[in-house]
Amino acid sequence: MSRRNVIAGAVIAAAAAGAAALIGMGGAPNADPIKIGHYGSMTGAEATFGQSTDNGIILAVEEINAKGGLNGRKIELITYDTKGDSGEAGKAVTRLITSDKVTAVLGEVASTLSLAGGAVCQQYKVPMITPSSTNLRVTMGRDYVFRVCFMDDFQTWALAKFTMETLKFDKVAILYDQKQSYSKGLRDEFTKAFGKIGGRIVADQAYSGGDNDFSAQLSNIREAGAQIMFVSGYYSDGAAIAIQARKLGISIPLLGGDGWDSEQLGKIGGDAIIGSYYSNHSAPDQPEMVDFVKKYKAKYKGQTPDALSGLGYDAMNILFAAMQKAKTLSGQDVRDEIAATKGFPGVTGVITLDKNRNATKSVVIVKLAKNGQGEIVPTFVARIEPEPSTGEEPKKDSPKADKPK
Ligand code: PHE
Repeated sequence: MSRRNVIAGAVIAAAAAGAAALIGMGGAPNADPIKIGHYGSMTGAEATFGQSTDNGIILAVEEINAKGGLNGRKIELITYDTKGDSGEAGKAVTRLITSDKVTAVLGEVASTLSLAGGAVCQQYKVPMITPSSTNLRVTMGRDYVFRVCFMDDFQTWALAKFTMETLKFDKVAILYDQKQSYSKGLRDEFTKAFGKIGGRIVADQAYSGGDNDFSAQLSNIREAGAQIMFVSGYYSDGAAIAIQARKLGISIPLLGGDGWDSEQLGKIGGDAIIGSYYSNHSAPDQPEMVDFVKKYKAKYKGQTPDALSGLGYDAMNILFAAMQKAKTLSGQDVRDEIAATKGFPGVTGVITLDKNRNATKSVVIVKLAKNGQGEIVPTFVARIEPEPSTGEEPKKDSPKADKPK
């Protein structure tokens, strides 16, 4: 857990401006920056998750500070590296809250890590917004934990529908990471959703994050007669599995969830990953992303943002909008205003938080293909819209549980 960056922009100049504005109002002006914490995987197997999210948050913070911050007080972002480890995530959040005394916390990407960090935020009653953790349990029973992305019951419903109705495949093999709540949750939810529309899971194989030999599982899958292989782990596993599958003579396309979203997927996977599909929160060529992509490229040396950058940017802007409305910056007041978020125009779509602190948004399906420069990139294939939200927590065994909310 190392401290990566602290952006206080022109803190001194802004502090002076804030102080000037407050002169004559009595009472000492508070010109200290407002600290916001971010915990993310800046290094490790999922390093692009933390880096992309941090880049998006920084862009939002710079824009906010350039407009004067909150009544002249600048936002100071403090980012700690979780290295993709849930123990580190818990430590990072504890440090942000108890020693840095942040007003709110942003992060993590991986659901297992958001579950660990969320426990700490809940304990201290400090609001947390995860930009991108989709596992159902992340926000459950935690009234200080929010998310600005869709959830995995809807994501898998969309994947199942796409597989059956668009690709016209009814036989799927699954290979999942039993150590990640996200990957296991996707496997469970997909199995239910696909079964409900008449699909069959012809092979169901597990591995443990960190494994790098998948040949035993892939040999079983090869014999199963699947038309597509759902690999519900993160991008580094997705790419490694694609390469090994091709070596073993498996030529069917692969299917992934949002956890595949990284520029590294095409770089590592190469030709083995071309023609495969995954679900995501946005695609850079979609209309709502256009302005954001421009700004992002200008700041980050021409890099195209992935969905994580957009979600980090949206999470920070939603937090800031709540802070502007809150009576005070206490955990409770900021929490209440985040909870009241409605119709927020994010770069990843319009965001309304329901009473369970979750967002309802569309799923985008992308296909991996070569662009004009020969890079393997996601290209937009379909958008799947949610049905109107009921605002209910998914009930176990109820027929509604597998429908999008
Ligand atoms: N949804 C994934 C999880 O919950 C994280 C993720 C989101 C990864 C978006 C990539 C892009 O673990």
